[in-house]
Amino acid sequence: MAFPVPDREQLAYIRAYLDRPIVLTGLMGSGKTRLGRLLADALDLPFADSDEEIEKAAGLLIPDIFEKFGEPYFREGEHRVVCRLLDEGVGVIALGGGAIMTPATAQRIWSESITLWVKASLPVMLARTAKSDRRPLLKTGDPETILTDLMAKRRHVYEKSDIVVVSGEEAAEGMLVDALDSLERFLRTGEKQA
Ligand code: S3P
Repeated sequence: MAFPVPDREQLAYIRAYLDRPIVLTGLMGSGKTRLGRLLADALDLPFADSDEEIEKAAGLLIPDIFEKFGEPYFREGEHRVVCRLLDEGVGVIALGGGAIMTPATAQRIWSESITLWVKASLPVMLARTAKSDRRPLLKTGDPETILTDLMAKRRHVYEKSDIVVVSGEEAAEGMLVDALDSLERFLRTGEKQA
């Protein structure tokens, strides 16, 4: 299947006016990493995934960090990693789904980046997360109940994002076009794109 090719003038405009990192947030399995990589490639920007960076820094996988040291320790490491990534300047950062719920991390994200909520339905997130066993929070009970509860707790924070992109079952390349259109409109108007 052929996907629409991003418009060169649009990419040039975004590159010219982008002065902060683009931060992707949203629940586990929403497609932040996939969209983040596509955005970074299209805009020729560096890409980082906060979970991967935490694993590199700790020399441990996320489930092992949770198991050995607990969630508060993970959140402290996550805070340090997200601060470092923000300090690196213009680029694309895919966040772990809970990073923006830590107030000190959120404060820096809101003031120093353009935030994009990758919003997916429960069935989409359930199907994607079922393919991996690397999400410790989903192992403590029924994933459907856990994701539903997390969405209820986090939605009001994700909703504050500058841009909302809906992530469905189709390939992420379709989402890329929506994300670039919204990004351009946000940079032109400064208005939230939901
Ligand atoms: C978490 C999401 C995970 C990872 C950790 C906790 C969360 O990242 O950071 O398992 O609290 O939502 P993804 O959103 O990339 O799966």
